[in-house]
Amino acid sequence: MVQRFVMRRAAALWSSLSGLLLACLCLGQCLAAAAAQPAGEDGYRLWLRYAALPAGQRARAAAGGIASLAPDSPTVRAARAELQRGLDGLLGRPAGAADGNAVADGGIVLARAADLPADAAVQPRLRLLGTEGYLVERTRLRGHDVTLVAANTDIGLLYGSFAWLRALQTGTALPLASAPALPRRLLDHWDNLDRTVERGYAGESIWNWWELPGIVEPRYTDYARANASLGINGAVLNNVNAKAEVLGAPFIAKAAAVAAVLRPYGIRVYLSVRWSTPLELQQTRSADPLDPDVAAWWRSKADEIYRTIPDFGGFLVKANSEGQPGPQDYGRNHADGANMLARALAPHGGIVMWRAFVYNPASHPAKAVDKTSDRAAQAYDQFKPLDGKFDANVIVQVKNGPIDFQPREPVHPLFGAMPATPLMMEFQITKEYLGFATHLAYLGPLFQEALRFDTRAGGRAMTVAQALEGKQAGKAGGIAGVANIGSSRTWSGSDFDQANWYAFGRMAWDPTVDAGAVAREWAQQTWSADARVTEPVVALMMGSREAVVDYMTPLGLHHMMGTGHHHGPAPWIDNLERPDWNPVYYHRAARDGIGFARGAAGSNALAQYAPEVARRFADPATTPPAFLLWFHHLPWTYRMPSGRSLWDELVAHYDRGVAEAATMQAEWESVRPLVDARRGADVAQRLARQREEAQWWRDACLAYFQQVNGLPLPPGSRPPAHPLEYYRALAFPYAPGHN
Ligand code: GCU
Repeated sequence: MVQRFVMRRAAALWSSLSGLLLACLCLGQCLAAAAAQPAGEDGYRLWLRYAALPAGQRARAAAGGIASLAPDSPTVRAARAELQRGLDGLLGRPAGAADGNAVADGGIVLARAADLPADAAVQPRLRLLGTEGYLVERTRLRGHDVTLVAANTDIGLLYGSFAWLRALQTGTALPLASAPALPRRLLDHWDNLDRTVERGYAGESIWNWWELPGIVEPRYTDYARANASLGINGAVLNNVNAKAEVLGAPFIAKAAAVAAVLRPYGIRVYLSVRWSTPLELQQTRSADPLDPDVAAWWRSKADEIYRTIPDFGGFLVKANSEGQPGPQDYGRNHADGANMLARALAPHGGIVMWRAFVYNPASHPAKAVDKTSDRAAQAYDQFKPLDGKFDANVIVQVKNGPIDFQPREPVHPLFGAMPATPLMMEFQITKEYLGFATHLAYLGPLFQEALRFDTRAGGRAMTVAQALEGKQAGKAGGIAGVANIGSSRTWSGSDFDQANWYAFGRMAWDPTVDAGAVAREWAQQTWSADARVTEPVVALMMGSREAVVDYMTPLGLHHMMGTGHHHGPAPWIDNLERPDWNPVYYHRAARDGIGFARGAAGSNALAQYAPEVARRFADPATTPPAFLLWFHHLPWTYRMPSGRSLWDELVAHYDRGVAEAATMQAEWESVRPLVDARRGADVAQRLARQREEAQWWRDACLAYFQQVNGLPLPPGSRPPAHPLEYYRALAFPYAPGHN
């Protein structure tokens, strides 16, 4: 008895001792970590955190005040306030008053060309910078050594101020001189009037429609600051699947209140409009674009909008697309529709962005292989004949790829194919098909791949970016990104998703900028300028999109996501209303092989590309492996350049994707002690889930393909964790972003 008691005491003592020891160890670790980690942050400040620079770098930022030679205006005030905020943070102390006009040594001076002497050395360079460009340099002004932020306009001064703050944080040398390549750089919000967001994974819409216009959240100003820091100059406030009510007086007033906040930051407001609006509001008897009453209604509606929002940007239109009404309902074409709206907006300087995201309304049998049955070919077939038929203030907005924002698509064949029409690129920043906000996928490489693609239009070098810049049409179009912004404290649903907003904006300003360089500057401002953080973060980001491609849709596979919500794998789906909504339509996996034949023997969609491109993609041997199954249906035994069979290569890609997800997790763990605990932990949770879901994608797809081809997995490759039926039975009735 006594012996048992003594033993129990000894055990208890040991357990409390070891508990104490563990507690001491943990405390030691926690203290060490606390010393290394800055206080927890919640991501709200985005890349505009302005964390104190290391002492050695502060001298560069040291300001002898912020002076402006430009007359006071809301935009100049915004520039001064941002410089003040930024320098206070970077210097770790107040940087000096922001409201004076006295030029002092070491000071920052904002000046437009008109504010500087006509013979100032900077004038010729300013003339090259247009209405939005800026220049930042050290110079002598009125007898003082200053940092001059110069531009032709107030908005140029604001952009230059942001550029200077960025340069301080990224160690970029002066002078800086930059002007945007594209005049229109927009975010498209797919936000509904009830505050749900189509394909949104970052909470509710940031537009609190119910409370507007009387209640204006300070968050709108922070939204404007973030966009202006990148040079984004337009926002389409509502979903392309638009409601007629958005053009009623109450919503115009709400949009006007948002426009008033965005205006000083150079951001114009646009609205998505529903084709049948006047008919639905029972103010016309049709929506036929050639009906004079209809045209008159739109003219008076445009007049009404411009009375309330004098700098209103214009309309974005999804017409005759996925069940939306449009001019084809009246036997008219897209140009008839776009031009009618364009004429209503033209007197006010507004534009129409007419979307080319259309595919045939009629369904075709999945097995037929001609252009009319291939969804990838249908937009080109409808739009190419209309080249040159659009009014001057119409821009045709084309998604980056011919299907729908997949993890990887070849570029849309319309780029380079409409030399007489300004085009606008539409990217999706929100990750509808790339794992929502739960997967880390940096989209910089995706944007870069599309923008740099050489269309060979006209038989010469012509990148997609150049086509957008109007190198063919002589008229520049623009670039739009479907926003990933919501009411979430992180804005984008996760810290790393902010990088996609950032990269979109930076590439919209300069489509030639390198995705890796953009990742680095984002990481420097968002996480830490410490290279021990930046370098692994950049490595992780740069590999992330390819990892997603590998574990979801490698080698050119596409559209194998779950029905409707698009979350998770569902390559087996074959029973949807339209053949071209089914994953089996896209991958065409069968006993004989896999892939969509889009060459001459198949749908011949390939013929829509310039001859040089078409020739390269016509032969599987010269088709880049990344697009192989997009363009070719090949036997499972097809020999890949690696020497493996197609089947073994496919498995290798899935395995690589899963391995990469694990590597990303490990890379983050090496960074985590050096970043703030709160954001560090959030990223870690997401990467853990991504790793699990990468495995799920791989296992479900391989289980399905094995059932189709009956082939064994290559040696060393792990069998799926569950039988196919398990994956098929998973359901996600409450997945976000889909009503
Ligand atoms: C995709 C997306 C829809 C969206 C459509 C569009 O199909 O799933 O939610 O409405 O694109 O771009 O119009």
